[in-house]
Amino acid sequence: MIVKNFFMHLSENQLLNKAAQNYGFKLGAHSVVAGTNIEEAMGSIKELNAQGISCTIDNLGEFVHDKAEALHAKKQILGVVDAIHAHQVDAHISLKPSQLGLDIDYDFCLENIKEIVEKASAFDIFINFDMENYARLQPSFDLLEELSKDYDNIGTVIQSYFFRAEEDIQKYSKYRLRIVKGAYKEPEAVAYQTKEEIDANFIELIEYHLLNGKFTSIATHDHNVINHVKQFVIDHSIPKEKFEFQMLYGFRKEMQLELAEQGYNFCTYIPFGTDWYGYFMRRLAERPQNLNLVVKQVFTK
Ligand code: FDA
Repeated sequence: MIVKNFFMHLSENQLLNKAAQNYGFKLGAHSVVAGTNIEEAMGSIKELNAQGISCTIDNLGEFVHDKAEALHAKKQILGVVDAIHAHQVDAHISLKPSQLGLDIDYDFCLENIKEIVEKASAFDIFINFDMENYARLQPSFDLLEELSKDYDNIGTVIQSYFFRAEEDIQKYSKYRLRIVKGAYKEPEAVAYQTKEEIDANFIELIEYHLLNGKFTSIATHDHNVINHVKQFVIDHSIPKEKFEFQMLYGFRKEMQLELAEQGYNFCTYIPFGTDWYGYFMRRLAERPQNLNLVVKQVFTK
């Protein structure tokens, strides 16, 4: 827990974040980040596609407090839409509302995301709104609801550690949803704190959406949960077209391939860009063994 809190604390440090952007692609981040630009990331995406794996692309960035930076992020994500279309890859986009100005001004953020969703919609590309911390949860659902009046190529994430997740999954079941355990440090007032409670809620939410909702993305590296889902879909005659498994780029690569080979829809989350620091620190907080990846990178250079 101390180690987890340590990395979680680092992940929120804005000064270190800036320093990391300037310092470059160091500390082994490139084992879990697929490049600094979309053309670099395309190589990995095409390789995964060739193995029957689809991708969701995250142009890394979050907690933007400057309008120019948010507009720059929008431009880059529009470039990702173009790249998916131009390369004709099997991929969609994951974006973070805070990267597009949620912390600056709700309407400004709405306009930025709208432009992306509109362009993606013309190419039939799905856009997932990643979920961030609790303070940004309701505004992110509001963005989704607002944009769903005009577009249907959008969906979001349900984080199982939140007490309100059960209510949310019922309310938002009309959307394609990615269900996760939850990656941020949240207070006891709003979120389960123990692994047992979070895992139990995770399973309940997955089962609910598989039975009642639109398409379900089960995003986890936890083999126990994956095995449970495999049995659950057999027991309830849920066709493979109704769901997919998702994992992050660079993690459990063999299992990713194995699931795809077993005929499950599989999607790898592909982060790329220079703003890798917060993403990378959260991965270390989740699983300090991920430090092994770092050590390996440093010593194999
Ligand atoms: P967890 O970390 O709880 O591990 C459970 C068990 O699985 C471990 O004890 C171990 O046995 C095994 N295991 C896990 N990782 C392993 C590895 N690398 N090698 C070997 N064994 C391993 N969060 C969020 O708040 N908002 C979001 O939008 C997203 N989006 C998202 C997309 C995708 C595709 C993924 C995979 C995850 C997210 N997350 C997220 C992160 C998520 O909330 C969660 O923090 C991490 O996935 C870690 O939890 P897991 O369910 O993977 O297993």
